[in-house]
Amino acid sequence: MPSSSSLLAVPLATLLLLSLSPAFSSAYNVSYDTRSLLFDGHRKLLISAAIHYPRSVPAMWPGLVQLAKDGGVDVIETYVFWNGHELSPDNYYFGGRYDLVKFCKIVQQAGMYLMLRIGPFVAAEWKYGGVPVWLHYLPGAVFRTDNEPFKYYMKKFTTYIVDMMKKEKLFASQGGPIILAQVENEYGFYESAYGEGGKRYTLWAANMAVSQNIGVPWIMCQQFDPPASVIDTCNSFYCDHFKPISPNKPKIWTENWPGWFKTFGSSNPHRPPEDVAFSVARFFQKGGCLQNYYMYHGGTNFGRTSGGPLITTSYDYDAPIDEYGLARWPKWGHLKELHKSIKLCEQALLSGAPTVLSLGDSQEVDVYEDSSGACAAFISNMDDKNDKTVVFRNTSYFLPAWSVSILPDCKNVVFNTAKVSSQSSVVDMIPTKFQSSSTSINKSSGHLQWDIFKEKVGIWDAADFTKIGLVDHINTTKDSTDYLWYTTSLFVDETEEFLRNGTSPMLVIESKGHAILIFVNQKLQGNGFGNGTVWTFKFKGHITLKPGNNEIALLSMTVGLQNAGAFYEWIGAGPTSVRVLGLKSGTVDLSNSTWNYKIGLEGEHHNIYETENSNSINWVSTSEPPKYQPLTWYRAVIDSPPGQDPVGLDMMHMGKGLAWLNGNEIGRYWPRKASEHEICVEQCDYRGKFMPNKCNTGCGEPTQRWYHVPRSWFKPSNNILVIFEEKGGDPTKIQLARRKVSSVCVHMSEDHPAASDSVYLKKGIVGDYKKKSIARLKCPKSSYISEVKFASFGDPVGTCGSYSRGECHDPNSISVVEKVCLKQNECILDLAGATFNRSSSLCGIGGLVRKLAVEVVCS
Ligand code: GAL
Repeated sequence: MPSSSSLLAVPLATLLLLSLSPAFSSAYNVSYDTRSLLFDGHRKLLISAAIHYPRSVPAMWPGLVQLAKDGGVDVIETYVFWNGHELSPDNYYFGGRYDLVKFCKIVQQAGMYLMLRIGPFVAAEWKYGGVPVWLHYLPGAVFRTDNEPFKYYMKKFTTYIVDMMKKEKLFASQGGPIILAQVENEYGFYESAYGEGGKRYTLWAANMAVSQNIGVPWIMCQQFDPPASVIDTCNSFYCDHFKPISPNKPKIWTENWPGWFKTFGSSNPHRPPEDVAFSVARFFQKGGCLQNYYMYHGGTNFGRTSGGPLITTSYDYDAPIDEYGLARWPKWGHLKELHKSIKLCEQALLSGAPTVLSLGDSQEVDVYEDSSGACAAFISNMDDKNDKTVVFRNTSYFLPAWSVSILPDCKNVVFNTAKVSSQSSVVDMIPTKFQSSSTSINKSSGHLQWDIFKEKVGIWDAADFTKIGLVDHINTTKDSTDYLWYTTSLFVDETEEFLRNGTSPMLVIESKGHAILIFVNQKLQGNGFGNGTVWTFKFKGHITLKPGNNEIALLSMTVGLQNAGAFYEWIGAGPTSVRVLGLKSGTVDLSNSTWNYKIGLEGEHHNIYETENSNSINWVSTSEPPKYQPLTWYRAVIDSPPGQDPVGLDMMHMGKGLAWLNGNEIGRYWPRKASEHEICVEQCDYRGKFMPNKCNTGCGEPTQRWYHVPRSWFKPSNNILVIFEEKGGDPTKIQLARRKVSSVCVHMSEDHPAASDSVYLKKGIVGDYKKKSIARLKCPKSSYISEVKFASFGDPVGTCGSYSRGECHDPNSISVVEKVCLKQNECILDLAGATFNRSSSLCGIGGLVRKLAVEVVCS
């Protein structure tokens, strides 16, 4: 740590600068010019992080916001989720996960800014892009164009939110945290599809927003003909080349995707931290002033909130904070270092236009200098294969391929985007047996006692309506439920050949999506489903028919509603054609038969997942629950799992369905496997342009096995877990799992770039600074380092969880690390100091740069 005398040496101006963090006691003016946002006339560079409030729970919000702050983030960004708030016209909800004001105040209390992307169309892989489904059914309504009903409700909701924020004094102009607001979302991509109406709508949306008089600027992202009154911003994996179209606007990046979302049945996308850092560094190198990670914490699509269709319940997004609220190493840490390094350059970066020098074919440096002598340089190597050494101001700099080096004094490299010194970690889902102090656990099998309720196949109670032909699923349910029964009957003459010759007719169903279960005479015959890219599907399968009347019952299911695209609200779902092949009359087309319809399930009708309605039907107690039975509700009373680790429900051995704890919607589960034929990688090459399918893992495995159950939903005991299983699964294999960081690792070289102390001190960063070649290991809060699993100073290889020694190895490595780290929550290892022995003869050969790899266990 710097001595107190060095602290005194920090110029007063710097200390004043440091104290300019948002205090929000009084109003401040947010304006802008072409270089940046201006806060009471002062420029700032800002790092922003998307955390969507309904994708976690209020109990998690303070921790998530603090973790973002600790990661060097200044601004929290969220969309506003219209259909979570306006449940029916004029019927508003702001409780629980939808307590927007509470969320904003948590951001404010953390001393951070807020970017409120009101939309209210938001896309976001959220059901119907955030727009209420009821709006589609108002006479004459067409979404997102010059359409009176849509504009009326859009304006009403926007005004409602703005007034709510004003009342709570949450805008910067009132001393609050909100510095920017967004209207619409990426309308530029679709505007032309709406013709002249689209153009008029854009102008109307901007004017409507500006007339709200909120005292802070409005933005429109990906808007290619932006009205002058708003700032147009960029959404992409890279925005270094972006230039606002609207004149005199600063360069703002509203969506940098540090990963990607998942759909049921696909593999898992990962964006390497080196590439995320590269994109951010390039953006600031090229004059950017505000960059937002979409998402910084993705969270969970609880209940039926996911979009798509077929978006998973997990919205983890490979974000810097994982779905469960834990820092994702090394991404979180690498970006933290990046943010710190960019902030060291803030004064120079904001001083004016850079001098750009070419240093090679794909290498360039942008130098920012001001009259006071501040100088910062970003040197980039855009070559996606070759490392390069370049000379800048008479000094050579080694640049790994596809990387940016940051020099806050135009001399010392404090950070290179491709060199990760942050720790990494091994995170496990540790199975935890169900405990129940109130119900019995079967002594011999160890299974929980489950109560069951069998849902009827087909029309339970009376049909809602009968009609000739097949109706659209969504137009019928209006999303009040995922489920719609279609039943009809088919008469089979006893003279049919197939009844004697052992063949069976074929059923062919074409559907707009998203999934279907097929029953004939009460027996499950098969199922069909679409996928994330083509959600329409065709089911073809043999069915068992008997002479006389046969009941055909189809349970059609939606799995998240469309969330983007021109006229997306008109895309329907459900079967469009049902035919039976192989009868003596040839093909029998049932599409125009008389069909009976029933919306939803009996259990849903009785809300049996809600604690107070749990006994509204007759549950049957079982000591051994039935397995692989379709349409079965399961209920069990369980204790909270011990400890404080986040919890996931392991649904690996179930089919597909919905789950609740104490009436809280966990969401849709479906351990559907990704095809083995997708392309997955063992190791991801960070170099080169990222696409969502570049670095996937999990081919042949379930897209989502574990389902987040927030800790705050548990009571110590008597928790009611309710599962609705559609096609059949094994409930005895359902278990809880604790998400735990089991070990943390570092792997870095002794020449890792980092500033000398003087650079940091000159820039006024007196706290958490980093010297050359310092390795840090930190276990999660309230755990400590209990074992050094691996340590080698020399030329170790491998990744966290599987390191091995190379030829050169300091035999004391383990004991050195043990001495410093054991029983600590956090420890620091100095690679450059005398701690490690560098005398081993092998290590000297060829001027080898030594590396340290360490894995420690957190308990
Ligand atoms: C953007 C959209 C976001 C989100 C993102 C992908 O186009 O604005 O809302 O959908 O794509 O995660």
